[in-house]
Amino acid sequence: MVALNGAVAVVSGANRGLGREVARQLVERGARVFAGARDPRSVDIDGVEALPLDITNAEQTAEAARVASTASILINNAGVSTLARLSDGTLDDIRQEMEVNYFGTLNMVRAFAPVLARNGGGAMLNVSSVMAWLALDHSNSYGASKAAVWAMSNGLRVELADAGTHVSSMFVASTDTDMMSSFDIPKHRPEDIVRIALDEFEAGTREILADDTAVALKAGLSEDIGKHAA
Ligand SMILES: NC(=O)c1ccc[n+]([C@@H]2O[C@H](COP(=O)([O-])OP(=O)(O)OC[C@H]3O[C@@H](n4cnc5c(N)ncnc54)[C@H](OP(=O)(O)O)[C@@H]3O)[C@@H](O)[C@H]2O)c1
Repeated sequence: MVALNGAVAVVSGANRGLGREVARQLVERGARVFAGARDPRSVDIDGVEALPLDITNAEQTAEAARVASTASILINNAGVSTLARLSDGTLDDIRQEMEVNYFGTLNMVRAFAPVLARNGGGAMLNVSSVMAWLALDHSNSYGASKAAVWAMSNGLRVELADAGTHVSSMFVASTDTDMMSSFDIPKHRPEDIVRIALDEFEAGTREILADDTAVALKAGLSEDIGKHAA
């Protein structure tokens, strides 16, 4: 079980999209929230403390860990999608997805793991994606970075066990945020997905499958690989 009421939590990418909703609902659940954003002036949620935070900047992640030194909850939400294709997208776009989604998240983990440990172990939630498990044109570079987040979360669960740090990862399909604005497909409401995710996080679920697509794809991982290409 992960107690959010009364906890101190840090959320990356808290100025919009899923991260903003996570920060808002954490406040509702009684947490003290440090809302990380590249531009802290863009944080518009009542009751949070805005934190300048570009997760690719190791000095800023270290400074965030100094400021939020009482944190026991880390929500690694910040991420980018460039829609680059693996075979002919620009390497700059492909590297950016790894730089933010994987190495940026890793920067946060390395800055905050000692903070969580000092504060009793705590818990982190790493936002991956169903694209870790699904091939889809224009999302495969992004998917590789999110598969890396999945693998990282599994590894950290082992490495941080002695410190008592609980590690959850989260998988969800299309949710209505800026990231998905160019896709004309059915989308979940961020508030619904975040409610499910935080309920599961509080319950101690290690892999949070926040919608039916995530459940089906996870269940199908042992099937023939052809079924996972769209
Ligand atoms: N929406 C979906 O359908 C969906 C599905 C599965 C997983 N996800 C994942 O959910 C997370 C949130 O996505 P979203 O849909 O809310 O996207 P979004 O609306 O595009 O928001 C992305 C957030 O990440 C921040 N960010 C980007 N690069 C950053 C950096 N270097 N340092 C710090 N913050 C940075 C953005 O800040 P700026 O405002 O400064 O750019 C923004 O706050 C991402 O990890 C995404 O991959 C989304």
